[in-house]
Amino acid sequence: MTLALSAEHEHQLRQASHGSIVALTGAGISAESKVPTFRGADGLWRRYRAEDLATPYAFAADPLTVWEWYDWRRGIIAAALPNAGHHCLRRLELAVGDQFQLITQNVDGLHQRAGTERVLELHGNIWRTRCTGEHHRVELMEQLPELPPCCECGALLRPDIVWFGESLDPGLLDRAFAAATGAALFLVIGTSAVVTPAADLPRLALAQGAFIAEINPEPTILTPIVHLSLRATAGEALPELVDIILDACTQ
Ligand code: APR
Repeated sequence: MTLALSAEHEHQLRQASHGSIVALTGAGISAESKVPTFRGADGLWRRYRAEDLATPYAFAADPLTVWEWYDWRRGIIAAALPNAGHHCLRRLELAVGDQFQLITQNVDGLHQRAGTERVLELHGNIWRTRCTGEHHRVELMEQLPELPPCCECGALLRPDIVWFGESLDPGLLDRAFAAATGAALFLVIGTSAVVTPAADLPRLALAQGAFIAEINPEPTILTPIVHLSLRATAGEALPELVDIILDACTQ
């Protein structure tokens, strides 16, 4: 695919590439790895009510059903591989180092499996669990021993994921807002941008003067306010976009 950027857009993108680069990703970047999104036509929320599954109340009422859903998702994600979109962001990180910060809403760990190290996981990670008794975290990569899983202390383990109605980790959030505030180039990739506070980040970056580029096959509520909106998938657009950014960095 060729991006066919206007000369002005390419010039602005190249200029912004000399500063701090932040990427915010959502479920769409994992779609080409066959991991279902939440709100697309085949989205998870089309088949399940979020209130029935991804809330502390749902877990308290029926931990088994909530864990059956997460176990099903873990199975899909375990079979998934990082795609070109994930690998392009790793290529960007390798080239610019600490000038790059990835912020993801995804819990699938595919950015890390692509090698990316500078990842802020705003909504947690599906491979981690948290003891509901002592609140420590337990990484459970393999098949869950039982459903619902229990901690050695006997208390239930819950997915270490931020549910609707819960707050994000304040330290993570501070780092994400600091990165957005200092960004010269802000990439918004594969998110419907409807869930806050993640959806506030591109707006904050825009207000601070960053060049905002969106990659999404569908328009979103951000589309009218970003500088560049590429109607493409992450796997289609990121290879050439990252080539342009890296070429600009070496100028
Ligand atoms: N490449 C890029 N974008 C894509 C692709 C693709 N191959 N396929 C789909 N998309 C876009 C869709 O058009 C949509 O705008 O990805 C977006 C996915 O949006 P959602 O399903 O709403 O996922 P996301 O934005 O990550 O949701 C945010 O909501 O349910 C909560 O905690 C959950 O982290 C999640 C948050």
